[in-house]
Amino acid sequence: MKLRTAVFASGGGSNFQALLDHQGPSRSWEIVLLVTDRPDAGATLRAHAAGVAVAIVSPGSREPAEIAREMLDVLDRHGVELVLLAGYLKLVPRAVVERYRQRILNIHPALLPKFGGKGMYGLRVHQAVLEAGEAESGATVHWVDEEYDRGRVIAQRRVPVREGDTPETLAARVLAVEHELYPAAVDHVTEAIAAGEEPTPMTLHTTTEEMK
Ligand code: GRF
Repeated sequence: MKLRTAVFASGGGSNFQALLDHQGPSRSWEIVLLVTDRPDAGATLRAHAAGVAVAIVSPGSREPAEIAREMLDVLDRHGVELVLLAGYLKLVPRAVVERYRQRILNIHPALLPKFGGKGMYGLRVHQAVLEAGEAESGATVHWVDEEYDRGRVIAQRRVPVREGDTPETLAARVLAVEHELYPAAVDHVTEAIAAGEEPTPMTLHTTTEEMK
């Protein structure tokens, strides 16, 4: 039995695509639903192409409790057991976090706990890394709790910052690593769940390959 998985995305969805491409008979998970707050998100086109159902949950000016109810309802209808945030820019409602405790992952384009939190998304993250004069950045997969980018880290990979990097060049280097790290972390977590164990963090190792 595969874990029924929903991906939440607000943007182009290249991580969503990497997850879609990684699925297969040997995996312990399958994507059954895309949830987005933006009907025009590029991720919706990817979902349509892959035959994945799409649910649009637009916060608008509605009460958080009402949004949470709608979200839980759609997740229930699709029998969702695992949630993967992939460029989802809204805070996940508290009731959803509570229901899916240790069952919601996020990917962040920096080495958390540094360079995370509210407002730290997109090129702002990479701009902040460059302004701080960091020698390296990377990608982090972590459990989601009630705060932005604060839950326990499951997997990280480092990426060097290079002389002359701009936020755009650094973002591209980190994104390429994200596309490998996220599916690998989801395999790791879901294999543990399938074996009836609570997932532990993956070991952090930096290979010479990563530092090229
Ligand atoms: C990624 O950098 C991810 O780490 C962050 O948002 C970005 C989403 O990019 N949370 P994409 O939509 O998956 O291309």
